[in-house]
Amino acid sequence: MTSTLILALESTCDETAAAVVADGKQVLSNVVASQIDLHAKFRGVVPEIASRAHVQKINALIAEALAQAGIEGHGLSAIAVTNRPGLIGCLIVSVTAAKSLAWVWGKPLIAVDHIQAHATSAGLEHDVPYPAVSLVVSGGHTALYHVRDPLHIERLGATIDDAVGEAYDKVAATLGLGYPGGPILDQMATAHHPLPLTHRVPHFPRSLLSPESLDFSFSGLKTAVLYHVHGPSKFEGGLEKLTPADIAAIAVEFQAAVVDVLTEKVRRAAERCRPRSLLLGGGVACNRGLRAGLSHLAQKLQLPLFLPNPTYCTDNAAMSAALAHHLLLAGKTAPLDLEAYASGTF
Ligand code: KG4
Ligand code: ZN
Repeated sequence: MTSTLILALESTCDETAAAVVADGKQVLSNVVASQIDLHAKFRGVVPEIASRAHVQKINALIAEALAQAGIEGHGLSAIAVTNRPGLIGCLIVSVTAAKSLAWVWGKPLIAVDHIQAHATSAGLEHDVPYPAVSLVVSGGHTALYHVRDPLHIERLGATIDDAVGEAYDKVAATLGLGYPGGPILDQMATAHHPLPLTHRVPHFPRSLLSPESLDFSFSGLKTAVLYHVHGPSKFEGGLEKLTPADIAAIAVEFQAAVVDVLTEKVRRAAERCRPRSLLLGGGVACNRGLRAGLSHLAQKLQLPLFLPNPTYCTDNAAMSAALAHHLLLAGKTAPLDLEAYASGTF
């Protein structure tokens, strides 16, 4: 195998990241600067604040990634950058940095699709048998893919409304919890599962759409939690009437509804595609309930399931470098006038 050494940059949303990866597998450095503190008071990412923070951090992060890897720019095989999909002002920051470095150091430039990188992120740590069915669950995306190999992925279905991470974050806001809500609700749901038999358990809907559908819908579930807390009219109660045990019960039932839907859709996709493995990627792939639910399904289907380390689930540049390795070997380099695109390819 031809040896590669790739510096990848990532700034699609609210994480500035840089990583150096050898041969698509060996992570020599993986640095991430999170902006959670800047966006927490708005309970969501503010694009203009995010782009400015990327500009402030990216140069130091690149220097840090190279220093930790013990590499100088001239020793690299290529510079990779996630150029889609994402917040356009954010993407432009790392795309501009990557183009400049590729030009200065005379290295090939590689354009990576962020969702393709999430869908194939398990390949960074594992030798994945393809074809695979991959579930990508993040703050902006929820989709299922048929992955024939890391460079050939085909979308089987996607959310028709909210992404699952977005539903987690909005439900957490409804419950007066912090931001981002996913890890907080996961922690609460895991700690209180199973609920005591004596506790009144809310029931939330599992929206599976038509029997064959591989699409997702989470807005009904999100609204069910909102109405459960506030009632259909804002005069009917609210958070104050809920005890901590009530809030924990909502977290447990909300997570159970999400996991039921996601695992059922993966089951359907596996039935349709007959893959050799199952993959998971994206920020919500950190979720303990989902990891357990899919492990259970994989056992039933007798398929290997590859779960990325949580470090490679939330936005990071190591997963992009791993995908860029395959792109470079296939000769898929990008021109120096590469642009950033808010929309994705898949
Ligand atoms: O992939 P990611 O870092 O950024 C996007 O590309 O969107 O995903 C961020 C999302 C957020 O919505 C966050 O709440 C969610 O992932 N998340 C989780 C967990 N950890 C992060 N959701 C549920 N359970 C978790 N443990
Ligand atoms: Zn992401």
